[in-house]
Amino acid sequence: MLVSAGVGLLLCIAVATIIILNARHAIVEETSSAFRIAQTTVAIRMPQRFAGRDTMGDAMRLSAEIDALRHVSSHIIDTQGDPLMARAEKAESVSENTVPDWFNQLMRPEPQTDLFPISHYPNILGSLWISTDPSDEIAEVWEDFSVIMPLLALTGIVMVGLTMLVSTLILRRLRILQEALSAIRQGDLTRRAPNGRLVEFSALAEGVNELAAHLQAKRAENDLLQTRLLTLSEAERAKIASDLHDEMGPQLFALNAALAQARSVASDIDDAARSQLVEALEATRTHARAVRDSARAAINDLRPMLLGHGSLIELLEELIADFTEISPEVTIDLNAGCQIGTGELEELSIYRFVRESLLNAIRHGNAQRIEIDMHCDNSVNPRQIVTRITDDGRGPSGKVLPRSYGLIGIRDRARALHATYIPPYRKGDATITELRMPIQ
Ligand SMILES: Nc1ncnc2c1ncn2[C@@H]1O[C@H](COP(=O)(O)OP(=O)(O)OP(=O)(O)O)[C@@H](O)[C@H]1O
Ligand SMILES: [Mg+2]
Repeated sequence: MLVSAGVGLLLCIAVATIIILNARHAIVEETSSAFRIAQTTVAIRMPQRFAGRDTMGDAMRLSAEIDALRHVSSHIIDTQGDPLMARAEKAESVSENTVPDWFNQLMRPEPQTDLFPISHYPNILGSLWISTDPSDEIAEVWEDFSVIMPLLALTGIVMVGLTMLVSTLILRRLRILQEALSAIRQGDLTRRAPNGRLVEFSALAEGVNELAAHLQAKRAENDLLQTRLLTLSEAERAKIASDLHDEMGPQLFALNAALAQARSVASDIDDAARSQLVEALEATRTHARAVRDSARAAINDLRPMLLGHGSLIELLEELIADFTEISPEVTIDLNAGCQIGTGELEELSIYRFVRESLLNAIRHGNAQRIEIDMHCDNSVNPRQIVTRITDDGRGPSGKVLPRSYGLIGIRDRARALHATYIPPYRKGDATITELRMPIQ
């Protein structure tokens, strides 16, 4: 904008300078040649002093004739130098009044004057005075100048205005496109750039929209694959858990029963051998129980046993009981204000989120008090189950170990189920982590 205004101004200045320089040159040329003609005319026609004629009368007529010419003026002056005859007003001199002083000063060249004595032998009667007079020429130049310059300035203003208008329109379109692009970059793939009336911008907007649509399709495909993977992995885990349960359960039961039988048989044999056998059998029983507990824990880890049989709250209470058994010094509170059930995969993901968060709070934060808060958020569509875990531990150190899969797993599950996961952050003295699961 500034450049176009500057160019307009420079153009005006250049045109004005060219007009003024050319006009000055023409004025000097024309007034000089008119002055030379006047000088020659006076030299030839000046009445001779000895001719016995009315020299003064002839000189006055000659003066009037020369004064009537363009670009020169003439009058008679007496011996004291005062004008004898009032100078005839020229028709053009009216227009001279309209020329401003500064323009007159700028254009007027150095005046050329000449004096021719008028004598009637033996007396000197006065002189005929001639001089260059550029007034009429200056008035003509001013007439052109006063039309051309405003026109030029107006053209410049219109050009600057047009430039402003066009650049404002282009900038506005670009800004709209930029906004759409930055929204898409921030993850809002539903955002589309509006089509403009300008063909070039329409093509650009179309390109941006196609890109967003492509990204949206790819993201949907990704989400679908992730959900499928999650479902498959959960199905696989459930199958392993069920196989373990079904295969190992009866065998462990049989083993325990056989051990009980062996113990009762051992009680009938003689004292020395019996105490040894009972000891060995007792140790075997302890090992068998340990194997059973490990199998139960493994099965529960693969798929919580209560899942499908109890509510999510019951599942979480069970989980808290397990944690309290392992770390009795930690107080874990559950505030559940949301009893709504949702899909099994979603409940399982909330369960795993709570389990991993409790484990992290105790393991990494050394927390003594952990609060699990569950409530429904009805202000969003679809409604969400919000699970927030607050612990009083020392919070995340910022260093993530290379083999850390807990938070990554939660994030992937959340993404596959269109949930929002907020990783642990500090608020005052508390560490908070949150999962917002849409209700199916
Ligand atoms: N409640 C918390 N308090 C303090 N630090 C935490 C908390 N939750 C997570 N962190 C930090 O975040 C890091 C990553 O946690 P993440 O669960 O992903 O990995 P991990 O617990 O180290 O390993 P994994 O869970 O795979 O056994 C942890 O190493 C820990 O430093
Ligand atoms: Mg962890």
